[in-house]
Amino acid sequence: MFVDLSDGASFADGFPHQFFKYLRDEHPVYWHKPTAHSPGGEGFWVVSRYDDAVAVMRDPQTFSSDKVPPRKGGGTGLNDENHAGFAINASDDPQHKRLRGLVSQGFTPRHIAALETELRQRAKTILDRISDPSDFEFMREVARELPLQAICSILGVPEEDRLELADWIDQGLETPSEGVISREHLLLVQKYGQELIAEKRRRPGKDMLSDIVQARLEGEAETRLNALELINFFLLLFPAGAETTRSAIGGGLLALIEHPDEMRKLRDNPALMPLAVEEIVRWTTPSIYKRRTATRDTELAGTPIKAGDKVSFWEMSANRDERAFAAPFKFDISRDPNPHVGFGTGIHICLGMPLARMELKIMFEELLARFDSFELLASPKWMPNNRLHGVREMRICAR
Ligand code: HEM
Repeated sequence: MFVDLSDGASFADGFPHQFFKYLRDEHPVYWHKPTAHSPGGEGFWVVSRYDDAVAVMRDPQTFSSDKVPPRKGGGTGLNDENHAGFAINASDDPQHKRLRGLVSQGFTPRHIAALETELRQRAKTILDRISDPSDFEFMREVARELPLQAICSILGVPEEDRLELADWIDQGLETPSEGVISREHLLLVQKYGQELIAEKRRRPGKDMLSDIVQARLEGEAETRLNALELINFFLLLFPAGAETTRSAIGGGLLALIEHPDEMRKLRDNPALMPLAVEEIVRWTTPSIYKRRTATRDTELAGTPIKAGDKVSFWEMSANRDERAFAAPFKFDISRDPNPHVGFGTGIHICLGMPLARMELKIMFEELLARFDSFELLASPKWMPNNRLHGVREMRICAR
């Protein structure tokens, strides 16, 4: 049994759970041979069990996030000649610790809490504006909106620029060849970001970006984020924060429609919402895999791994591992405990986790308050992509 995991087409009908069950049982640390679709024509390890994925995430010295050693700047691919800055998700300590310390000064509980009233109001407006509730495309009209608005609010993007920015990002993501954001649209978003950062320097506002631009870490040689680090962070937030949350909203509603007993349970007992949100993140696992590079010869679950090998670990598979979860293929909104790794673990654990949880809670509360029933009008379409996997299109009738 072989499924080419580098080929987006392998994900066109949804996540290949069958193949991963086979891997977890038979080849928990599996060598994926290079195929026509493999980046750089290289093979890579596939880590599918929960315990092994956690072991990789919690050992950043052995499994490096800095993908292109020796040090290169940026996770965007645009700045490879410029070594003066780093992207938080693609760096190791000590650089990662410094970046995380700086950007965390924007992501404070105070900032997140301050967004709640605004996001709830925006969620209500999004539902008010549905073109025709008896037949509409949920991903575009509902699921994409709140996460984009949340990122724009964090960044203090003026209201009048938001639609255009969202369109560039969407068009970029539609371009399958690049996986994340196409170069042309990336450049537009990058230029916009640079101007916005300059504006926040000149006239700081109450938004997180203004705080991040001014953040300082005493005792570090570089006390502030430099221009490249700021733009890398700006660019990362859209795929990291908006696409993931969109997938969780879409996949979450799909799961509730497909499991009417769970939908009923949640309606009857709204206090279950925080647990339901965790189960939605486990079930949909919008970040389906991540990649590290081995820095030394090592072994994982008895399999030798060589220095320089690419190691992918699949959070989606870890979150369905029978060894870690009772009945993992059961969607259970009251699952407790639910130690899923949908937000990762270790030093790179999702920075936006409290915000994502709040957005999901607000959106599902508002959806259930507004409508008594939801019906699928056609089979959902999936993104034929192994990085941003999730529902792409879903026609819904809501009453
Ligand atoms: C349901 C929604 C979300 C999911 C499933 C998710 C998932 C993840 C995962 C798995 C990681 C760890 C990556 C790794 O180990 O390499 C991560 C990191 C990150 N996430 Fe999220 N995320 C979500 C929402 C957000 C939001 C809303 C934001 C920001 C507004 C955000 C910002 C980030 C950032 C900046 C990192 C990098 C942290 C670091 O490397 O230290 N995420 N996310």
